[in-house]
Amino acid sequence: MKNGFPHFMLKEIHEQPDALKNTILPRLAKGLPDFTDDLIPDFVFEDCDQVHIIACGTAMHAGMAARALMEPLLRIPVTVSIASEFRYEDPLVNDRTIVIIISQSGETIDTLAALRLAKSYGSKTLSVVNVKGSTIARESDYVLYTHAGPEIAVASTKAYSVQLAALYMVCCRMALVRGKYSVEEAEDFMKKLLDSIPAMEAMIEKKDTVKALVTHLINKPDAFFIGRGLDYAFSLEGALKLKEISYIHAEAYAAGELKHGTIALITQEVPVIAIATQENVFSKTISNIREVKARGAFVILLTKESLNVDPGIADIQINIPDIGDRFTVFPIAVVLQLIAYYASVGKNLDVDQPRNLAKSVTVE
Ligand code: F6R
Repeated sequence: MKNGFPHFMLKEIHEQPDALKNTILPRLAKGLPDFTDDLIPDFVFEDCDQVHIIACGTAMHAGMAARALMEPLLRIPVTVSIASEFRYEDPLVNDRTIVIIISQSGETIDTLAALRLAKSYGSKTLSVVNVKGSTIARESDYVLYTHAGPEIAVASTKAYSVQLAALYMVCCRMALVRGKYSVEEAEDFMKKLLDSIPAMEAMIEKKDTVKALVTHLINKPDAFFIGRGLDYAFSLEGALKLKEISYIHAEAYAAGELKHGTIALITQEVPVIAIATQENVFSKTISNIREVKARGAFVILLTKESLNVDPGIADIQINIPDIGDRFTVFPIAVVLQLIAYYASVGKNLDVDQPRNLAKSVTVE
């Protein structure tokens, strides 16, 4: 069942390039995203004034990355809500809102309750779900299945990257039908999305490099993940993954927020995983890295080959291939997952079944 891998999580990390292909390729028509077979008509994307994304945990983090991409491109408000919060609010959604529900299992109780609430407000609901025929899929107006195949390890890996791929395609289709993208721009976007697949493969091949760096993490009580913009959204997922399977306390911060309190926790040898793949904020993130380095942090920098980093900025640097800034999440996700995986293995923990966690959260 594990195909020779020691754990399901490692197997599922390796399955991501194929999972991405399975999610993207059947929905490509002449190089453009096409949801005809999913029975999602374009008016769903045209007749709305706002997008509201709702999910829990890793799925919510996929939503946060999608939001950072969507809002500047579509020029309409894109909000992300934690399902367990949204369901007890009196949310500002209506019949001009497209509510995107993200759930691997399609059974998370808070997410399901949020879906039902959004429907009661008259919103159009589109769910991004992995498990066929699940309750969320059945109750949504429209469903976009991610084709990741079964995910066994409790810590979500391939489900996250295919959720992102599906959301990126939605974003591209919306931009096209709302006149924000020309056909050429949409084709270019999809080409870059496909380029992220070999970039993921390249990072999987670098797994021994990641394995070696976890010696700097496994004996530490805390770790910090920092980034700006899209990189901040990726940091949130990196911290969650590390916490849930290695039990190392990890926090993600928007890099510019550190100086508003958290930098007090940065002392000698505290691991800081800094993600700097976005060119528009690169120099700002580098300044934040200098700040933590000056306080003795052990900096692991994840960046892009093409971005110039002065020597001595980081203790360890991992470069992802030079792909479009908006698509760096795919190779970065692989690195973050491998960091958590090898930290858990290094601490001799139960990687696939971490304590206190269930794969599908069907209780409130
Ligand atoms: C973390 C993880 C969880 C799930 C969350 C939502 O690795 O897997 O945070 O993402 O419980 O689950 P779904 O996507 O099934 O609704």
